[in-house]
Amino acid sequence: MNTTSHVQHGAWRLPEARQTDFNSLDHWVSLAKTLEAGKFDFIFFADVVGLYPDYQGSWRKFVESGLQIPSNDPSVIASAIAYATENLGIAITSSVLQAHPFDFARKMSTLDHASNGRIAWNIVTSPMRNAWRNFGYDEITAHDDRYLWADEYVDVAYKLWEGSWDDDALLQDKVSGLHGDFDKVHKINHDGKRYRVEGPHLVSPSPQRTPVLFQAGSSPAGRRFAARNAEAQFILSPTPQAAKGLIDDTRRLVAEAGRHPEDLQFFQGLSFVIGSTEEEAARKAAELDEVLDPSSFIAHIAGSLGYDLGFHDLDTPVGEIETQGLRSVLAWLHEAVPDREPTVRDLAALWGKNGRVVGTPESIADTLATWQAAGVGGINVVNSTIPGSYEEFIDHVLPVLRDRGLAKRNYAEGTARRKATGRDRLPDTHPAAAYRGAFAPVIAS
Ligand SMILES: Cc1cc2nc3c(=O)[nH]c(=O)nc-3n(C[C@H](O)[C@H](O)[C@H](O)COP(=O)(O)O)c2cc1C
Repeated sequence: MNTTSHVQHGAWRLPEARQTDFNSLDHWVSLAKTLEAGKFDFIFFADVVGLYPDYQGSWRKFVESGLQIPSNDPSVIASAIAYATENLGIAITSSVLQAHPFDFARKMSTLDHASNGRIAWNIVTSPMRNAWRNFGYDEITAHDDRYLWADEYVDVAYKLWEGSWDDDALLQDKVSGLHGDFDKVHKINHDGKRYRVEGPHLVSPSPQRTPVLFQAGSSPAGRRFAARNAEAQFILSPTPQAAKGLIDDTRRLVAEAGRHPEDLQFFQGLSFVIGSTEEEAARKAAELDEVLDPSSFIAHIAGSLGYDLGFHDLDTPVGEIETQGLRSVLAWLHEAVPDREPTVRDLAALWGKNGRVVGTPESIADTLATWQAAGVGGINVVNSTIPGSYEEFIDHVLPVLRDRGLAKRNYAEGTARRKATGRDRLPDTHPAAAYRGAFAPVIAS
């Protein structure tokens, strides 16, 4: 995320951590080049457009800890990354809340041209009330209704990306003087519940037309949305076994939506602490724990808990604060700390270690093989430090993964979608494909 403290709160204080340089374009271009040299598929930017719910009744904590504020717009730096790289996919998050779909579709098409087809979109719906208030709403739209909203949003974008221009509409013929073929550019005339968009799309067809589509969020409504739309879903499963259950269920929905089950891939978020021996890795993990800030983790997850835990001392036993909203999280915590009454501090510590893999490159490769066997198609490498977390992964883990056939040695040719799936554009089974040719005038014969 284009901010100091995204997930591993407090790690920015480590001497080698450079994530405080996030305002600098050089910082991101340099990271992108590092990732490309390491043959990463994508640089993925998370993004939010508001604050998390209050901590200790206030948003002070977020400012004081650099917890996703300040944060910058990733789409603006995407074009610089596109210019500085050739093969790296560039995935940016944008909420249906933050931009009108006409404007957003135009921006993404422009970036897809600028990157020769390497743009991806992580579709999110903004679960934070403050974000909604930033865009003029008094209250947040209800959970499942946000996904219905997203359904219409993506439909508008699909119409513009896939249906507005025929492939051969742009002529640029200097001899005839004809720049565009009027009969092959179409208005979309979308008239829906939230949006009315006449069109046409102002951008000519880009290499991928629709960007590679990512989604995060695995509630029943989220799974249904992903099954219809996404090509990759970010997941945060606690175990490979849990991931398998989620993947099998969601792939069943993909098939129900008329798509091929393998057309949706799953990327598990994991962070890595790497040592040349298990002892060294454990020591580095302990050093990291020293700087991680438990109260920031509590502040960050309060939104998911639906409860401001900030009013409780970190050493408060959770048994004293049971509430309706917290019940499932507390049950999970009791399982994780079975031998005594867990505290708020335990919750923060366990949350901070969620998805952390500690070990040698070889043992990490063993762990990743178990995730792959569960159906996970890729790893979202969560950083503790930028660029250190990625440099270590590239230098030490990727060579072992390559030797085991778990990571590629070279990029395939072409767009981000072609590299991943062998084709530049969405398959015919994707709902966006239904808009191809859908707006062409019907000519009476
Ligand atoms: C790995 C992961 C990454 C996410 N990244 C973002 C993000 O960058 N911006 C955002 O607004 N929400 C993000 N979310 C939140 C989801 O979009 C979604 O709102 C949330 O997971 C709740 O959805 P659900 O109820 O369907 O599970 C992310 C969620 C996950 C699991």
